[in-house]
Amino acid sequence: MIVIAPSILTANFARLEEEVHSLEAAGADWIHCDVMDGHFVPNLTFGPPVVRSLRAITTLPLDVHLMIEDPDRWIEAYRTAGADSITVHAEACRHLHRTLHHIRESGARAGVSVNPASPLALIDEVVGDVDLVLIMSVNPGFGGQSFIPGSVGRVRRVASMLRAAGSAAAVQVDGGIDAVTSRAVVGAGATVLVAGNYILTAPSRAEAVRTLRASAAPDRLPPGAVQA
Ligand code: DX5
Ligand code: ZN
Repeated sequence: MIVIAPSILTANFARLEEEVHSLEAAGADWIHCDVMDGHFVPNLTFGPPVVRSLRAITTLPLDVHLMIEDPDRWIEAYRTAGADSITVHAEACRHLHRTLHHIRESGARAGVSVNPASPLALIDEVVGDVDLVLIMSVNPGFGGQSFIPGSVGRVRRVASMLRAAGSAAAVQVDGGIDAVTSRAVVGAGATVLVAGNYILTAPSRAEAVRTLRASAAPDRLPPGAVQA
């Protein structure tokens, strides 16, 4: 079972309610919220008030991806605002184990992410402390970038790290996910797909969600879907 988590980064921020309802109608499983602070990444998005407003208009799980420095300071605020999962970057945490426990104690699912150039060894010691491992397949900061091909091997390696450790954490991939790259990462062991541009700019968002979901069962790809 593949979880589809559209990112609202590419949404029209003046019409967020409509956008989220359109993603719900398209079959989204989670709503991926990209929080950027202008320091950890060279872009700025939104903070807890927006997450709180989204919480009021959707029952879908809110998957909050914190691309911010010193995320500890903000965990409580995002959880109180309504985040169901909170993912931090290993590169931004001085005491990663503590931060992940802090997230779990707040009642949210804990996620850890690594940038494309970061060694997977950064998360080796915490695979038992997380519910999600997010492999960035672009350098974080912007939507619409090209998938970095080496990410497929990283997904495979992290999936086997998790298996070896007996961890039930899901492998999530974020950045440049489309009909072709989704099949590659799902084949390598990913079960949660984040997609911004591919879903939000599609002529039919429902068709785009169906296509991504079918990555695990290529024989059931909908007509017209791009073959790898
Ligand atoms: C990138 C964000 C992603 C991004 C994905 O920094 O974390 O969630 O919005 O967008 P696409 O799918 O367009 O690459
Ligand atoms: Zn993201």
